[in-house]
Amino acid sequence: MFPGIVHTGTGWKAVRTMGTARVVFDKWDGRYSAAASSVRSSAVRDLFAAAARPDVISLSGGMPDVRRVPHEAVQRAVREAMRHDGASALQYGSGNGREELRATIVGLMAESGVRLSEDDLIVTAGAQQGLDLLAKVFLDPGDVVICEGPTYVGALQAFSAYQPRIECVAMDEHGMRMDLLEETLRHLGPRGAKFIYTIPNFQNPAGVTLSGERRRRMLELAHEYDVPVVEDDPYGRLRYEGGHILPLKALDPDVIYLGTFSKIFAPGLRLGWMAAPRPILAKVLLAKQAADLCGSSFAQAVAERYMTGTTWRRVLADLARTYHERRDVMLEALAEHFPADVSWTRPEGGFFVWVTLPDYVDTRSVLAEAVEHGVTFVPGSDFFPDGSGANCLRIAFCYEEPAQIAEGVRRIAEVLEDTLQLYRAFVTAGAVGGTRAGAPVMGGRR
Ligand SMILES: Cc1ncc(COP(=O)(O)O)c(C=O)c1O
Repeated sequence: MFPGIVHTGTGWKAVRTMGTARVVFDKWDGRYSAAASSVRSSAVRDLFAAAARPDVISLSGGMPDVRRVPHEAVQRAVREAMRHDGASALQYGSGNGREELRATIVGLMAESGVRLSEDDLIVTAGAQQGLDLLAKVFLDPGDVVICEGPTYVGALQAFSAYQPRIECVAMDEHGMRMDLLEETLRHLGPRGAKFIYTIPNFQNPAGVTLSGERRRRMLELAHEYDVPVVEDDPYGRLRYEGGHILPLKALDPDVIYLGTFSKIFAPGLRLGWMAAPRPILAKVLLAKQAADLCGSSFAQAVAERYMTGTTWRRVLADLARTYHERRDVMLEALAEHFPADVSWTRPEGGFFVWVTLPDYVDTRSVLAEAVEHGVTFVPGSDFFPDGSGANCLRIAFCYEEPAQIAEGVRRIAEVLEDTLQLYRAFVTAGAVGGTRAGAPVMGGRR
């Protein structure tokens, strides 16, 4: 019994097949809200089923390698949490998060260059909940959100439930292009967008980093056009080369900052935070209480204990070394195996490499064949609200072992080579238009 991959129109779906296709009818269809109907499916999520097959090399999901987080350290944190904070860890807690954990977060932010007090942030169920809550408190149907193109699938999912118009601004190797951001803001006028959403460090999915100069320019433009900036920074502490660049939040206290324990500890705890101006936090807190009353006191108590002492720093340093090595293996394999008319980004940290193929390739149709060859990636169109970016794909180097990464890249190259040869034959015959080679734009609309 093997899962197959089908494209459902709105996204890819992994289905289990036993020789015959199984169609599931939803008899409640037609009763869902417009908001629920507008939530997009995601190839990344849908592919998890296929990626679970032992013979499939998964270069699709951005899963941290929690196999390297020592269980003894977590067990110790759980034991200490129960010994010292047992009663409160098992009880409802305050909506904005446990004070001790917020104090820990203040310390983490200070290390990145951001000065805050505990009242400037709330603990969330991962950065993902922060995205949903921001959409909930800021967006009415038809409102404009500006984001990078391509951008994080989970943000598109969170935002799309509130039915905004999402304007993508293209990137180059230094992150979002400020000339295009300015053009977009000018076109929309003052307060024309509800917020600008950016992932400045080792962007998901493009892997590029917003330069210091562009961070300052983004803030100037945000002030000029009176549009808040949302800075989503899950990967900031996973830098493998180059120097630390100050977060936007360090340059401007009005920035709304999302952080997470998912990449510095483990995503299974579902813990993140939002640091924002207090009036915004007050609104977000009400929305959060409606969603969950309060976050998990138990998970917070465990994180508090884990994050005291130095073990977590050693574990994180080990993780960063591991990811660094895997990134290098992926880049070497790309250089060795990928065709000449394909380009890719060179991330200085994080988890992802973004690959741009000639315009005529649709990576959605390549994916099914790649799965047959035992490897998964995410088609580029998943990362755009309008389905553009079909000639791009994202590959992740965070989870598989180096030999698997090299083999996975080789298998994708094999599938691509077949596809490209077919297209080239059509182009030569004049059946389809020719194309530029993969240029260092990120598949945006501009
Ligand atoms: C850019 C970005 N934002 C947010 C998240 C969600 O992270 P969390 O596990 O904290 O919800 C992710 C997860 O991969 C991400 O890549």
